[in-house]
Parts: sequence; C-alpha cells; structure tokens
Amino acid sequence: MELDWGLGQYEPTGEALLPISEVVVGMSEPLAGKRVVDLGTGTGNAALLAAERGAVVTGVDPAARLVEVARKRAAERGLQAEFVVGDAASIPVADGGAELLLSVFAVIFAPDADAAIAEMTRVVGPDGLIRVTSWVPGGSMMAINNTAGKFMAEVFGAPKADPDAPKPLAWHDEDALRAAFGKYGFGVEVERRLMNLTGTSAEVYLEKSAQHPMAVSAAQALASRPDGAQLQAGLERRLLAAVQEINEDPAAFKVSNEYAIVTARRG
Ligand SMILES: C[S@@+](CC[C@H](N)C(=O)[O-])C[C@H]1O[C@@H](n2cnc3c(N)ncnc32)[C@H](O)[C@@H]1O
Repeated sequence: MELDWGLGQYEPTGEALLPISEVVVGMSEPLAGKRVVDLGTGTGNAALLAAERGAVVTGVDPAARLVEVARKRAAERGLQAEFVVGDAASIPVADGGAELLLSVFAVIFAPDADAAIAEMTRVVGPDGLIRVTSWVPGGSMMAINNTAGKFMAEVFGAPKADPDAPKPLAWHDEDALRAAFGKYGFGVEVERRLMNLTGTSAEVYLEKSAQHPMAVSAAQALASRPDGAQLQAGLERRLLAAVQEINEDPAAFKVSNEYAIVTARRG
C-alpha cells in the first residue's frame, strides 16, 4: 500500500528540505509569468518560491492534508497559487499546461515511474522543462530508510515481489533516465550536489524524525503486533545505532547527503 504522506508531521522535514527547493527554483529563473507545476508539492516549498517569483503555480500532491497546509502557507504569505490533490500517474493539468514542472524528492516515490514520465512530458509544452531531485544511494538518508526497511522485513517478512508491478527507476542514474525519458523524445542532464543536515545530537535528530510519515506508518504497523512496544523499542535502538554511525560530528550532529538534480527537455 502506498504511504499517505499526510500521516504524522511531514512539516519539519519539509523545512529541512527547503534549501533544495531554493536551489531548484533558483536555477529555473526567470519565472515571472511562467506556468509552473510543483508535482508532489508537500507543504508547498517549491510552489511558494515560484509564486514569489511571479510564476502561475499549480501544486499537486496526493496527500490531502499536505495540500491544505500548502494552501494555508500561501494564504498566510498573500501568494497566489493553486493547490490540488492529484497523483503523478494522472496529473490534473491540461496537455502543455505548463512550461516548467518541478518535483523535489516527490515523483521518485511514484510506484509507476514510466506512467509518471508519460504524464510529466504530456504536461510540459514542446519547449517545456522538467526538473526532478532524487537522493543518490549510499547517502545517510538512504542508510536510515534501509535500516528501518530491514527491521520491518525481519518482523513482517520481505515484501513479496509482484511480477506485474512496474519496474522501479533509478532516478539518480543518467543512463536509466536517458532511456526512460528518451522514449518520450526528451533528453536528460544530471547534476550532483551535496546537502548537509545539522543538529544538536543524533538522539535529537531521531526524536524529531519520530513524526515523519514513514516513521508513523512503521509505528502503526508494529503496534498491530502483541509485542508491538518491544518491537518499536528495538527499531528505535537500531535507528539510533545507524544514525550514530553516519554522524560526521561527534560533538553534535551532521550528515551529508548527495542528491541528483535531473533536468529533462525535449530534443
Ligand atoms: C519527501 S516529500 C517532498 C515534498 C516537497 N516536494 C518538499 O520538497 O518538501 C514527498 C512528497 O511526494 C508526494 N508523493 C508521493 N507519491 C506521489 C505520487 N505518486 N505522485 C505525486 N506525489 C507523490 C508525497 O505526498 C509527499 O508530499
């Protein structure tokens, strides 16, 4: 089942990821008068930055609660932006309805990457641009997710492989992306950057992450077991060990994550 990112509190993670939207929106300027879609807008980070720069913005996200948060943030800042509930597999925007489509760590979670690329390429016009960010494997973000994933697989068994499921796409890999976008007549460039996350300690970082939608979803699944409380404590111990291992600052907390900025355009 797909994760509802409206679970728990995505907001602190959204704040931590704001610098990435600043990079992506900054490199897409000038934006005045441009029609921009922010796919998987979450709390509206990229959408609001684009609206501030005069773009005509539509933020799309499957998580209804986050769409409400994004609307509220726009209203608080007096910004004009439309926010709609929708999915990458069926983007609620007309053919050629945008010159720019951004997706900051979002479309990478769509279960059918090919359907999402078909939709993104439909939505941007002939001269349109698509810009997606993706984590690069091996970074600290993945180490935490993998630790949790491994623990859940130990408890519930590894998820069964569905032979009919769409093939996952390595959203950071230039060759894989060229093949995936090339099908729709789009070329691809990939740029790698580094994002640092800092804090006071590994413990505080984990405490703050406890309300992340993925953590809440895992906690709900573990709570369904009679030994749920023990299992939850076991997961937290495992996560703390993983976070301490990747912490680059023994006196506080610092992890660096490599990420890819994928730019796709026709031709
Ligand atoms: C890590 S958050 C990123 C949110 C926002 N772009 C940001 O930078 O803070 C991932 C977002 O992708 C959205 N998402 C997940 N699956 C999606 C799908 N199939 N289509 C569109 N968005 C999706 C989630 O609802 C969530 O808001």
